[in-house]
Amino acid sequence: MKVLDAEFVQGFIRLCDDGFHQNWHERNGGNLSYRIKDEEIKSIEEELTYTQPWQAIGTSVPNLAGEYFLVTGSGKYFRNVILDPAANICIIQLDETGENFRIVWGLVKGGRPTSELPSHLMNLEVKKLATNGRYRVVYHAHPTNIIALTFILPLEDKVFTRELWEMATECPVVFPDGVGVVGWMVPGGREIAVATSELMKKYDVAIWAHHGMFCSGEDFDLTFGLMHTVEKSAEILVKVLSISPNKRQTISPRNFRELAKDFKVTLPEEFLYEK
Ligand code: 13P
Ligand code: ZN
Repeated sequence: MKVLDAEFVQGFIRLCDDGFHQNWHERNGGNLSYRIKDEEIKSIEEELTYTQPWQAIGTSVPNLAGEYFLVTGSGKYFRNVILDPAANICIIQLDETGENFRIVWGLVKGGRPTSELPSHLMNLEVKKLATNGRYRVVYHAHPTNIIALTFILPLEDKVFTRELWEMATECPVVFPDGVGVVGWMVPGGREIAVATSELMKKYDVAIWAHHGMFCSGEDFDLTFGLMHTVEKSAEILVKVLSISPNKRQTISPRNFRELAKDFKVTLPEEFLYEK
C-alpha cells in the first residue's frame, strides 16, 4: 500500500487540518506524533527507504527502540500538510539504543522532524509504559485561551485543573486525572521534554506557560477531542473572568463527587479543595 492511502496517515493529516482550522497553528506552531503499529508499518513497507543517515534525538527513549513514528516536520506549517503531506511530515525509525532516528519516508523537499521531537518521544515512552501500549498520539498546539490563562492564574496543577473542571460539566469526565502545568522554559530541548514527560506520568494534558499545550491519547479522535475540550473550557473561563472577577455560582466539590459517582470516574480529592 502507498503511505498516503494508509488509514493512520489519513487520520494524522485530518487532525493537522482540523487543528489549523481551530486557529491553534499559526505559521509553523504546533507538532504531532503517532507511534505506528507493527501491522501498519508492514502494510506500507514498499515505500520505505533506509538510505538516510542516523541522527541524534537529543534524548534517550530505550523503551521505544526500533519503533516507527509519523511526525510533523520542523518549521512546516499545519495548513500545508493536507496539500502536500510528503513534503511536510515524515516517518522515522529509532535505532536499537533509542538514542538515534532516521527518516524512512517523507520530507521530500528536505527538513527534519519537529524541534519538539525529544518531548514527543519522551511523552510517548511514558504513555506506552503507563497504558500498556494503548496510547499512541502526542499533540502539541498553541490554543489562544489556555495560553491567555497562563498570564492570569497561578501556574499550579491544582488551580488550572479545578478552574477548567468548573467551566463545563463534561470536563472532569473527559480529563478526570486533571492537567499539569510547566512554568516558562526554553522550548525544543531535553530539559522541557523531561519536565513535560514527568507530568505525563500523572496527566494526559500538560500546559506550557506562555506557549501552548501537550495532549496525549489512544487515537487521533480522543487526543484532538481532549485538546478541544480543554481549550473550550479555557475559552469559557476567559469570558467569565472578562465579565467579572467573581463567579456568582459554580460547580461545587459536592457536585463533582456526585458526578464522579454517576459517571464512574475517580476524581482525586486533591482537586476538590474548599476555596
Ligand atoms: P516545529 O516547527 O519545530 O515543530 O516547532 C513548532 C513549535 O510549536 C515549537 O514549540
Ligand atoms: Zn510550540
